[in-house]
Formats: sequence, structure tokens, C-alpha cells
Amino acid sequence: MKKRNLLLMLIFLFTLTACSTKDNKTQDNSLVIGFSQSGIESSWRKYHTQSIRSELTEKNQVLYRNGYMDQDKQIQDIRTFIAYKVDAIILSPLKEDGWQTVLQEAKKAKIPVFVVDRHINVSDTDLFVTHIGPNFKAQGNRAGLFVKNYFADKKQKQINVLELKGLENTSVSSSRAEGFKETIAQDKRIKIADELTGDFIRAKGKEEIQKYIKEKDISDIDVLYSHNDEMTLGALEALKNTSINPGKDLVIVTIDGQEEAIEQLKKGNINCVVENNPDAGWFVANALDKYFAKEKNYTLPKEIYMSETVFSENNLSSIPTRNY
Ligand code: AHR
Repeated sequence: MKKRNLLLMLIFLFTLTACSTKDNKTQDNSLVIGFSQSGIESSWRKYHTQSIRSELTEKNQVLYRNGYMDQDKQIQDIRTFIAYKVDAIILSPLKEDGWQTVLQEAKKAKIPVFVVDRHINVSDTDLFVTHIGPNFKAQGNRAGLFVKNYFADKKQKQINVLELKGLENTSVSSSRAEGFKETIAQDKRIKIADELTGDFIRAKGKEEIQKYIKEKDISDIDVLYSHNDEMTLGALEALKNTSINPGKDLVIVTIDGQEEAIEQLKKGNINCVVENNPDAGWFVANALDKYFAKEKNYTLPKEIYMSETVFSENNLSSIPTRNY
């Protein structure tokens, strides 16, 4: 009789534990995580995706969707995650605006959202737990500082910059522009002569510079400040058909630190590469651990920055292997 009671008790406890986990949750402590990535436009982006996916799949089940640079598709993907009742959503947003409604839906479903890479603009900041990514304004500052220092001992009266911006309505483009402007303002000779938009895409960067070469006199430009390596590599292709010697007649400053850009830096065709760290995986996993552990008195900061550096001819020999 006693044995039978014990058996019934064990069955009851087992059923209780099984029922207390969410339908889609695995039986151990792992989570079901929806990861919405914005696109595949650069090697940087591909590494960023892989870093997050591989780190999270070590302990969790990851549902991955790519928006292919279409915000509506990303919104649809988030709705799919909500319908699936995931435990958390990782959002790497294409643009800054337009997330309010879908994130309210996630909040209503009690699903925490972690924003990575670019920022979002929502009136209620409780719609996301934290933002994990690089400090884009600091990257712009570093790019501007390189230009300022480069020309410090040159006698030139005016220094003309051509700024090749990334995708519009993204925090990354506006902050990289803002940071750069802030620093070059310390030398009144440095002016932004023209601005182009290349959407962070190599072919678009090439096309924009080709058009510029046709319509204007690029020999008037002293500095090309490009918001990412892909567009810079496109610009270098466009410059091949001109008499401009990149890195000498035209100072080139780029952001990301992709292997191909570092090769061009070593050849002297690029003067400065501001690193943009794509290795977000560990930071995301750590933030999720902290959030779900609900450590007493521990609240995640609203901003989690990843450390970065600058590469130029001054530290060529110590540039770590890029892997992207
Ligand atoms: O949002 C980060 C930027 O997006 C990277 O600098 C660029 O390479 C990517 O496309």
C-alpha cells in the first residue's frame, strides 16, 4: 500500500513539473529564443548573426529569421515569434522608427525584447530590456579624430570631406555622422563638402562614387569618410578608373574592420579603419542569463556597450585576425 502511494505521488510530481513549463519550452533550463536579423548586406552583418546564433544555441533553442533589409518582413517575423510564445526576442533592427506597435504586442504577451546593433526609437523605453551594441557616436568621433590629427601639421587652408553615409533612418548612420562632425569641428579648416548615401551596400557605394566622379570634380576632395567597409570597397573599385591615388591623393577613413578593408589598409589604399565589433554573442547570452536568473537587486543597464579600437599605419603589425 505504501509503495503504491509513493508511486502515485511521484507520478503527480512529474506531471506538475511538466505542466509548469511552457508548451514550447524545453525540459531543462534552456529557453526558446526568437532572433530577428535585419539583413545580409555585409561580412560584418554575417559575422554578427553567426556570433549571436552560435552563442545562444549552446544552451537554447533559437528560431532565426532574416529580414533581408525589409522592415515589414522583420515585423512579420516578430509576430511569428509572439504567436509561437517564445521566451525572449532578440531584435537587430533595420531602421530606427516603426517598432512601437509590434513591441507593444510583445509586451502584452509578456515576451522580453533585447535590441542588438542599431537602436530603436520608441516612446516607451520599457518596450525593450536593453540595447547591446557598439557606440556609434564614439566611432564617428574616432574617425573625425584621425582626420583632425592627419591634417594637424599640414598647411592646407581648407580640407574637403566627402561623406558616404549608410542607410537613412538608422541610428548607426546618424550617430556616425554626428560623432564625426563633433570632432572635426575642432579644426575649422575641415568641412563636409558633400554627402552621399550608399545604404551600407558595396554596389551602391560604387555607384554613388561613380556618379560623383561624373558630375563633380573628385580631385577637390581631400577625405572620403565612409560609414562602412562594404561601401568603401565599392568606392575603391570606382576610383580605379580615375587618376586619384587612394590613400595618398585621397585620405580614406572607413568603419567596421572587415578582413578585406584591413588588406587595403596594409596596401596603403585606406588610411584608417575604425573597428565596429560584430562579436555580440557573448554579451547577448550574458544579458539573457542575468535577466532570467532574476538576481536580487540586479537590473540590466539600458545600454551595454562593446569595446572597440582603431587601426591605421601606426598599429598594422598588431591587428588581430578579423574572421569577417
Ligand atoms: O549597423 C551596423 C552596420 O551595418 C555596419 O557597420 C555595417 O557593415 C552593417 O551593414
